[in-house]
Amino acid sequence: MSPLDKTNDYSEIVANDKAHVWHHLSQHKKYETVDPKIIIEGKGMRVWDQNGKEHLDAVSGGVWTVNVGYGRTEIADAVRDQLVKLNYFANSMGSIPGANFSKALIDKMPGMSRVYMSNSGSEANEKAYKIVRQISAQKHGGKKNKILYRDRDYHGTTITALSSCGQDERKALYGPFTPGFVNVPHCLEYRSQWGDVDDYGLRAANAIEEVILAEGPDTVGGLILEPVTAGGGVITPPEGYWDRVQEICKQYDILLIIDEVVCGLGRTGKWFGYQHYGIKPDMVTMAKGVASGYAAISCTVTTEEVFNAFKDDEADPMSYFRDISTFGGCNAGPAAALANLEIIEKENLLDNCTKMGDYLIFKLEGLMDKHSCIGQVRGKGLFIGAELVEDRETKEPVHESKAQAVVGHCMANGVIIGVTNRSLAGFNNTLCLSPALIVTKDDCDQIVNAIDNALSEVFG
Ligand SMILES: Cc1ncc(COP(=O)(O)O)c(C=O)c1O
Repeated sequence: MSPLDKTNDYSEIVANDKAHVWHHLSQHKKYETVDPKIIIEGKGMRVWDQNGKEHLDAVSGGVWTVNVGYGRTEIADAVRDQLVKLNYFANSMGSIPGANFSKALIDKMPGMSRVYMSNSGSEANEKAYKIVRQISAQKHGGKKNKILYRDRDYHGTTITALSSCGQDERKALYGPFTPGFVNVPHCLEYRSQWGDVDDYGLRAANAIEEVILAEGPDTVGGLILEPVTAGGGVITPPEGYWDRVQEICKQYDILLIIDEVVCGLGRTGKWFGYQHYGIKPDMVTMAKGVASGYAAISCTVTTEEVFNAFKDDEADPMSYFRDISTFGGCNAGPAAALANLEIIEKENLLDNCTKMGDYLIFKLEGLMDKHSCIGQVRGKGLFIGAELVEDRETKEPVHESKAQAVVGHCMANGVIIGVTNRSLAGFNNTLCLSPALIVTKDDCDQIVNAIDNALSEVFG
């Protein structure tokens, strides 16, 4: 049932949008002839557009953010109460929601101890890079300043975050980039770079060591990885990969940064993606699911050991972390984040995430009998991808126009799904699902039915 007031006329909103709004990730030419979709309202798993049309949102706000679903009055109330008490003070001072949220977060992250708040995933990663660089300057005479990133991973939109981007189409036309970022191979066995190998996880991790040795271990200070690669094609790590990665970081004294901007807070069925794999990170970054989009907040979380490197030399005026994020002092962020975390806990959403994720994967794999265009289904919890191919034997990827046609067909039928989008030349062929952690079995069935119908329509 649409909650929209049918008497509302949104034509002026549409006109103002068309005249003045520059939409993200959008080629605007089409809006000369069609109206952009304007999302007016959301409740639970569903959103309604300006025409009153209902959509089941299988991508949590388009980019995997609204983990607890729409219309959460508990979060809105927590933010309102905090804003009337104190909206802002720079985070060089403390705040009640900052202290309470940091404690609650660290309780979920054994081994970690400090929370540095900012606004976006890109910014959280940039803080981690600055920490690596400052440690390099202070502890290694500036030598260990290189940061490794992996092919197909994404870490943000700013020029330095893009300098660590493993997606060629995301970076194209935005160079020159920040020096000191070095690419290592991806770990997607389905697209193995080494042919048929017995232990692909070990092989892919050893490829990181090869890069370290080629660059010189005394020049490499950090390695940033997504626990499950998201926008680069939903890549779950192969068996044995993380154990070896951890070993390599230890051996060469390299700080391990885990980018949990997508996986963070529940998306994979644990609080954090890295917690599936026994990883002991030096830093963890997070953003999207931290407050489910009810406020802008990101965090760079470190161990006490990393933190101590910025505390121990009080006599040196340059040795502390000389970084500020103005809006990292907005109290709406931690107030929303604390309420968001409490909802995940109270409603047992990690459990639902695991169960519904398994169910969705099972149902999507079930479609493989009928649709030979599905090459592989992969995922963890409620982050799931289905890679579309022309031919299962050759694994030739479908042209992106076909993958986008599937998304368009689902949208026309009231289900919003995603696809790797202007990320990897020739490989924008993986459908992405990341519904809110409150998703039900009926919702999953509706999502899979829409995909089933769309595949029949596009591929026959
Ligand atoms: C893994 C990952 N890291 C970082 C970011 C950047 O986050 P933001 O867009 O909040 O800057 C994203 C955004 O999609 C992401 O997927």
